[in-house]
Amino acid sequence: MSEQVRIVEVGARDGLQNQPVAVSTADKVRLIEMLVDAGITHIEAGAFVSPKWIPMMADSAQVLAQLNLKPGVTYSVLTPNVKGMEAALASPANEVAVFVAASESFSQRNTNCSIDVAFERAAPVLNMAREAGIRVRGYISCVLGCPYEGDDIDPGMVADMTARLLDMGCFEVSLGDTIGRGTPAKAKRLIETVSLQADTSKLAAHFHNTYGQAIANLYAVLEAGVRVIDSSVAGLGGCPYAQGATGNVATEDVLYLLDGLGMNTGIDMEKMLDAAAFIQEVTGAPVASNTASALLKKRLVS
Ligand code: HMG
Ligand code: MG
Repeated sequence: MSEQVRIVEVGARDGLQNQPVAVSTADKVRLIEMLVDAGITHIEAGAFVSPKWIPMMADSAQVLAQLNLKPGVTYSVLTPNVKGMEAALASPANEVAVFVAASESFSQRNTNCSIDVAFERAAPVLNMAREAGIRVRGYISCVLGCPYEGDDIDPGMVADMTARLLDMGCFEVSLGDTIGRGTPAKAKRLIETVSLQADTSKLAAHFHNTYGQAIANLYAVLEAGVRVIDSSVAGLGGCPYAQGATGNVATEDVLYLLDGLGMNTGIDMEKMLDAAAFIQEVTGAPVASNTASALLKKRLVS
């Protein structure tokens, strides 16, 4: 499996959206710039969603405006509807993302609408992006379990939704195990099923680590051909609509896994550790990455 893997760093959005501690705009900007300096080329920099629902992302426009943008780097934002897309177009974001869920209950909690309405809201966003020449990523939540509907999410339904997002114009679909309930066998079966309707090169794995399975699940989907992985510095994160769900798989743990497999990302582990230490200091939350914890401890003793 010696190939290139693209990491999409989601810590500054998925990671921070659920932090109980306020993080200043300046610290968000610093975090994103540190991550880009570490070699991250694809980064979620914010979300143009309702500030009443997700207060932590209320300053996304300011964050984007204050960033020292690096050429060649993709700075992406969540845009659930036309209002969000208008804000994105007024910002320097050069990629946007629409999101739907493979569970009606989660769709209602997360976006205040049914799955079908979430698709309807995404359609004009895709049209606006097409006109502006901006790429759109699609997300599907709850692909391996839902906090309200349980573990039996039909992989065939996820496959249909993936095909629908790609048909609408998304260049890639990120499959979200929002509550980290997946196991390697289930994750592999999901990719095999979705790949019957979509090219595997258009799929990304977005796994949360609530049950400690994310690295094992990633190994399974790497074997199934997935080469795009969403991860979060220091394992930051959670989901405001999934009580108890912890962060995304930590970027540092993913880098360690990939390095051991001889796979390449172009990301500098030492600089990732600097970013992890920085955000730990800002939030006061312990680093939720075994690799980062081990390497940061090693730094202290050397
Ligand atoms: P709604 O209430 O159905 O929409 O929200 P509405 O059109 O009726 O508007 C209601 C109010 O929201 C109005 O304000 C609008 O202006 C405002 P008011 O008149 O009451 O003052 N509004 C907005 N404000 C800013 N930006 C916007 C926007 N749209 C409406 N874009 C909406 C629908 C989707 C906006 C809302 O439900 C929402 O923001 N939900 C939060 C969704 C969210 O950010 N969830 C977390 C991210 S998704 C995730 O974490 C999963 C993922 O990581 C993958 C995985 O792990 O599975 C991606
Ligand atoms: Mg997520």
